[in-house]
Amino acid sequence: MEKIIIHGGRRLAGQVQVSGAKNSALPLLFATLLAPGVHRLGNVPALRDIGTAERLLKAFGAQVDRQQNQCTVESTKIDSVEAPYDLVRTMRASVLALGPLLTRLGHARVSLPGGCAIGARPINLHLKGLEAMGARIELDHGYVEARAKRLKGAHIYLDVPTVGGTENLMMAAVLAQGTTVLDNAACEPEIVDLAEALRGMGAHIEGAGSDRIVVQGVDALRPMDFTVMPDRIEAGTFMVAAAITRGNVLVQGARAEHLEALICKLREAGAEVTEENRGIRVKGPRRLSSVNIRTSPHPGFPTDMQAQFMALMVLADGTSTISENVFENRFMHVCELQRMGADIAIEGGRATVRGVKSLLGAPVMATDLRASASLVLAGLAADNTTEVRRIYHLDRGYECLEEKFRQLGGRIERAVE
Ligand code: EPZ
Repeated sequence: MEKIIIHGGRRLAGQVQVSGAKNSALPLLFATLLAPGVHRLGNVPALRDIGTAERLLKAFGAQVDRQQNQCTVESTKIDSVEAPYDLVRTMRASVLALGPLLTRLGHARVSLPGGCAIGARPINLHLKGLEAMGARIELDHGYVEARAKRLKGAHIYLDVPTVGGTENLMMAAVLAQGTTVLDNAACEPEIVDLAEALRGMGAHIEGAGSDRIVVQGVDALRPMDFTVMPDRIEAGTFMVAAAITRGNVLVQGARAEHLEALICKLREAGAEVTEENRGIRVKGPRRLSSVNIRTSPHPGFPTDMQAQFMALMVLADGTSTISENVFENRFMHVCELQRMGADIAIEGGRATVRGVKSLLGAPVMATDLRASASLVLAGLAADNTTEVRRIYHLDRGYECLEEKFRQLGGRIERAVE
């Protein structure tokens, strides 16, 4: 196994380029199942999860080729509709194959994803929506078996504005017969990116980015030729890195309209955040001020930035309250931060963070993707050396992270355990 070794205490400075968004590239890759032909997808990040999605597409019978960050998918011949457990269990986003396979071929057999470190993460709303569109859904030995001659448009209200559920149902609706309305839909920028790509394939979609999406089904779609949006969570991670190290960093490709809640909170914490034509510049203050955050669906404070922001608050003057309202178990970075000297108390979904003057480097363990990022940020700010183990979690969602931090002056390297 590999680990990351960080010699902390250096200010980050310079500029860093954001990669394509993992959480947009994943649904976009599954959207290539919706139409035969050769699909072209640009700015695809080189990540473990992307590799898993590509393996899944090949398991369905598609041909997949990747040259650097350009991915080509030939999905004319799909000769399997089964997403096997050994792939789905490593990446829950595999359930996004359900909608496309079902609406194009009338059949899909996808393993239930099972548990996840950060929460139960059921897919009941995905399945309820597909049933409303006329699908017959059976649970068979841990697999979802879905069949439908042709899906029919339906008016679906989502009890929770689920990102994956919105994406799955939007993809199912584009080839359904009639009109589908998704109410209480998720509004994340990745939903807008997916809708734009689907419209480029000939789909009729209105309202993406709002809580009501209306899809007029069509009989067939053409292949996509699309470029993935920049990764707003990677961008946010670098913005926090600048703030926590009193640095001065230009995050190239970052779009302020995707990160308004984070930008407000960074400014509240004393960071200087300015938009430049090529991205967002963040200057960290000499002393950080404590700030309270509550995670919520977009446009609220993103749950995927909660762990990173907590690392920042560990070193702020005063006491911060961090409330995690999206997932039930997304505080696993806390005990690792405490090993570095953080003063954090957890009560249910709320963390109370009392700022400390400094953190001490220590050997720590990554437990999930964003918790890993939080530990790297703490290591960059800590005195002496921090070793982050089990960094395969990190590789799921960050492309060449240590190289990018080295570009900014960080002393950080990857080593074998
Ligand atoms: C997406 O996960 C992201 N993953 C997550 O990013 C992100 O944290 C999450 O959205 C919230 O923004 C991808 O896009 C690949 P949800 P998803 O369905 O779609 C409940 C990362 O770090 N729910 O919006 O699985 C669920 O339990 C990852 O990059 C139901 O109850 O999230 C959760 O509490 C982590 N029933 C809440 O909704 C359902 O059918 C939000 O989940 C579906 C969801």
